[in-house]
This record gives sequence, C-alpha cells and structure tokens, in this order.
Amino acid sequence: MAHFLVIGGAGYIGSHTVLELQRQKHHVTVLDNLITGHRQALTDCDFIRGDLGDATLLNRIFSEQAIDCVMHFAAFSLVGESVSDPLKYYDNNTGATICLLRAMQQHGVNRFILSSTAAVYGEPKEIPIPETAATAPTNPYGRSKRFVEKILHDMEAACGVRYVSLRYFNAAGADGSGCIGEDHAPETHLIPLVLQVALGKRAAIDVYGTDWNTPDGTCLRDYVHVTDLASAHILAAQHLLNGGTSRIYNLGCQQGVSVKEVIRLARKVTGCDIPVHEAPRRSGDPERLVAASNAIRSDLGWVPAFEDPEVIISTAWRWHRKHPQGYRNRKRTTQHAEKLTDLNQTGAF
Ligand SMILES: NC(=O)c1ccc[n+]([C@@H]2O[C@H](COP(=O)([O-])OP(=O)(O)OC[C@H]3O[C@@H](n4cnc5c(N)ncnc54)[C@H](O)[C@@H]3O)[C@@H](O)[C@H]2O)c1
Repeated sequence: MAHFLVIGGAGYIGSHTVLELQRQKHHVTVLDNLITGHRQALTDCDFIRGDLGDATLLNRIFSEQAIDCVMHFAAFSLVGESVSDPLKYYDNNTGATICLLRAMQQHGVNRFILSSTAAVYGEPKEIPIPETAATAPTNPYGRSKRFVEKILHDMEAACGVRYVSLRYFNAAGADGSGCIGEDHAPETHLIPLVLQVALGKRAAIDVYGTDWNTPDGTCLRDYVHVTDLASAHILAAQHLLNGGTSRIYNLGCQQGVSVKEVIRLARKVTGCDIPVHEAPRRSGDPERLVAASNAIRSDLGWVPAFEDPEVIISTAWRWHRKHPQGYRNRKRTTQHAEKLTDLNQTGAF
C-alpha cells in the first residue's frame, strides 16, 4: 500500500483515479480547491480543500504526511478561455505547479505523475501521433502543459525527480457503478453534450463542419475511457515506486471516432432522437487527433478495458441518466454503490 497525494482529485479524471486507488487499498489524500471539482465525487479519503499554489499549505501537507507519489490533475483546461485569458492558464497550470514542485523538492518527495494532453502536439503532422512527434501547441492551454513537461525534465537532471507525463486524448465515460462521472460547467466535451440533448437539456448538438477530409466529413477524435486513464496512472505509479525512469506516454485507444459516429452510437444507447445542428468549422479544430499509444502498452502492460466507443458512451449515459443535474443536490452518503463510505473517517482541514 502506498500513500498518494492526488491534486485535483475532486475533478472528473482525478475522482475516478482516486476511486481506483481506493479499490486497490492505497491511502489517498486529495488536495483540491473545488474551483471546478466536486466534493461529492469523493468518499473515504483525506480531503484538504486548498490551492495548489499555497506554499504554506503544501509545506504542512508534506511535513505531516509521508507521501510516496504525487498525482497532479489540477488545471484549467478550456482551450478557448486560454486564448482569451492566457495568464489565468500560465498562472494555474504552470506557475502553481512550480510551487508544488518546489515543495516536493524541499521535502524530498520525488515521484510525480502529470496530467498532460494531446494539445501539446498542436496540428499533427502524422496520424496516429507518436510520443516522438514534435510538440507545437497552438494555444496557451497546450503550452502551459508543455512548459511543465520541460520543467520536469530539468528537475530530473537537477534533483532526481522522476516523473511520468501522461498525454490524454479525449477522456470520456464514467465509472461502471454510475455513481461518479463527468460534470463540467461549462461542458465542452462532445459525449456529455450529446447526452444532454438526449436528456432534453439541450435542443440539438452542434456539429462543426461536415466537409472535413474524413470518411463521413466530420472530425475524428480518440476517446479513452476515464477508468482506463485511472488504471494507466496506477501502472505509472507502480513503475515509479519500483524505481523506474521518467517517461512520457500517450493515452488513447488508437482509433479515430467521428462526430457523426458518436451521435449515431448515442442514439442507439439512449434510444432517443438526437437532433443535429450543422455549423461551420471552428478555427483551431484539428481534423484528426488519434494517439499512437503502444509505448505504455508494451512498457507498462496497459490494456484499456473499454475501447469500444459504444461501451464508453453507455457508461457515460448510465451516469448522466442517474444524475441529470450532475453532482448538484447529491449527498456524499448515497454516492458509491459498493459502499466505500465511512464519512466519519473523512478528514478535512
Ligand atoms: N478531460 C479531458 O478530456 C482531458 C484531456 C487532456 C488532459 N486533461 C487534463 O486532465 C486534468 C484533469 O481534467 P478534468 O477533465 O478532470 O478536469 P476537472 O476540471 O474536472 O478537474 C480539475 C480539478 O482540479 C482542481 N483544481 C484546479 N486548479 C486548482 C488549484 N489551483 N488548486 C487546487 N485544485 C485545483 C479543480 O477544482 C478540479 O477538481 C487536467 O489537468 C486537464 O488539463 C483532461
């Protein structure tokens, strides 16, 4: 059993990773300021409400707790907002991460897992995109993450921090229990938006461009199930805990699924008519984003359990149908089907 500090653990991907860590009986401490996360997404872990950029708080956490590995999910991730307000992104995603890394260095904590992104590649020159492809992010969000990867590289040389940077493609789906899932506001991801139409919360789904050079004319994306992301984090942590060297890995299913195909599958899964509104292309949308993610499969034995996009959409639908308002009005005590809960043990300071 290891002790993980999960920063941003109340968010979408963080909370699913916390749940998998708990299922494997690890000790988890979550630090989250809840700016986009949800306290109700967590059960039975030490929860600290606070900011990643708070050096005093970090000093206290690392002094009081013997942390084996840090998993860092906390970031802003709206591409458009990063263009209109770049400092918000560099401040939180890069600057606050430097504060965290400094605290880790001061306390001799030297295992780190970063939530990175396909956005570091920018407009891809080859499909599927290997980790060796040139990085050329086209927006501040992607650059804010790429800077952190470069800082980690320098820190490894300077002070022996070992890290795994996981470049996610399109995270999707929800825990099989249907008890936790995706709840972003505003929501910008295709699958939850399509399911909001099925729930009657939106009139139609916007499709940006039907004249792309793809089989059905709509963009292709690589959807990876959130529980598979969580399992990749656990393998990455085991790698570091076993003394493994720093790595950068793509996380994707290596298949491009079109926007029209997502809508077709969502109609099948939900049984609902999902009206479409065809809109012009958006600037900055790459035509295809598909990962080559064989490196983590062969190095760490990662085997995604939910590669079928219909299964990914089904798990998302289970969550959205059970919780049409997301985490709003939900109590923590009703959350996990397998009754992980002992709220009396849920510390907060
Ligand atoms: N969702 C995706 O498809 C996707 C794809 C690629 C990369 N990522 C990256 O994965 C990570 C998690 O994404 P997500 O979709 O779960 O996002 P999310 O917004 O659901 O989760 C982020 C969490 O971090 C917390 N947070 C943000 N800034 C903080 C700070 N300064 N201090 C403490 N807590 C803070 C938020 O409250 C939230 O709980 C992000 O780093 C994101 O850039 C996500």
